[in-house]
Amino acid sequence: MVQNKLLLRQIKKAGINLSTAPDKASFERLLKLIEQSYEDTIKSRRMIEHSLDVSSAEMRETIDALEHANEEVAKKDKMMFQQSRFAQMGEMISMIAHQWRQPLNLISATTASIEFDVYFDKIERKKLLLNTENIAKYSQHLSDTIDDFRNFFKIDKEMQMTTFMQEMSSVLSIIGESLYAKKIDIIEEFNYTQAFKTYTNELKHVIINLIKNAEDALLENNVTDPFIKIKSYTQNDMAILEISDNGGGIPENIIENIFDPYFSTKSKKSGTGLGLYMSKIIIQEHCKGVLEVRNYEDGCVFTLKLLL
Ligand SMILES: Nc1ncnc2c1ncn2[C@@H]1O[C@H](COP(=O)(O)OP(=O)(O)OP(=O)(O)O)[C@@H](O)[C@H]1O
Ligand SMILES: [Mg+2]
Repeated sequence: MVQNKLLLRQIKKAGINLSTAPDKASFERLLKLIEQSYEDTIKSRRMIEHSLDVSSAEMRETIDALEHANEEVAKKDKMMFQQSRFAQMGEMISMIAHQWRQPLNLISATTASIEFDVYFDKIERKKLLLNTENIAKYSQHLSDTIDDFRNFFKIDKEMQMTTFMQEMSSVLSIIGESLYAKKIDIIEEFNYTQAFKTYTNELKHVIINLIKNAEDALLENNVTDPFIKIKSYTQNDMAILEISDNGGGIPENIIENIFDPYFSTKSKKSGTGLGLYMSKIIIQEHCKGVLEVRNYEDGCVFTLKLLL
C-alpha cells in the first residue's frame, strides 16, 4: 500500500483508482507529476546549497574581519606595552643619573684632594688610605644604585627588616663627610628604635634626596649654624621619620608643586627636579606610605610615614 502523502495526492491528481489497474494516459500523467516533483526537489536543493554557500562565505568574511581586528588590537597592545616599557626605562635611567650625581661629585672631590696632596708633596699614608677607601665606598654605592633601580618597577620585590637608625647610618656613611665639611650639624633624635619591614634601599634613596635638598637650601641661603634634624617616632601604627632643616623653608606659592616631575627652583646644572618626584613614588606607591611637607618658622619639615 502507498503511504507517502505526496505520492497519494499525485496518484489522485492523475485520476488513478488504486483498486483498479491504471490506464496508459493516467499512468503517464502520474509519471509527469512525479518527474515534476523530482525537478522541484533538485531546484530547492540547489537553492539551499547556494544560500548555504553564500552564508558560509559571509561567515568566513566576518571571521576574517574579526581575526584581523584581534590582530590589530594585539599589535596595538604590544606597541603600548613597548612604549610604556621605554617610558619606564627612561624614567629608570633618569633616576639612576639623579642618584649618581652625589657619589660622583664625592669621587671627583676625593681624587682632586689626592692630586692636590701629590702636587704639593703632602701625601700622608693614612689620609691616602682613607681617601681610597672612600672612593671604593662611593663606587660601591654607584653600583648598588644600578641594582636598586633595575628592580624599581618590579612589583614582587622583597621587603627587609631594618630600623631608621640603621638606614641613617648607612646614608651618613656616604654623604656624612660632605655635610661635616660644610659645617652642617646633623641632629638625630630616634624615639622609635624598633625594626620594621620596608624596601630598605629605596628608603635610603629617599633619605638621601631629602637631606641633599636640605643641604642645598642651607648653602643657598648662607644659613649661620645650619642644621638638619632627623627625628623618628610612631603614631597610629605608622613609623614616622621627620627630616627638617633651618634653611628658610619653601615659598608657599610653590609648595604645592615641589613633588611634580622636573619642578625645580635650582639652576639647570644643579637641579633636575626629580628628587622629590622619585621620593614620592617610592614612599606612596611602593611602600604604601605618605610623604608630606610643611614649613615651620626656620625652614621646612618633610614627614615620611610608613605603615607598620
Ligand atoms: N628642604 C628644602 N628647603 C627649601 N626648598 C626645598 C627643600 N626641599 C625641596 N625644596 C624645593 O623643592 C624643589 C624640588 O625639589 P626636588 O628635589 O624635586 O628637585 P631639585 O632638588 O630642585 O633638583 P634635583 O633633586 O634633581 O637636584 C626644589 O627645587 C626646591 O625649590
Ligand atoms: Mg633634590
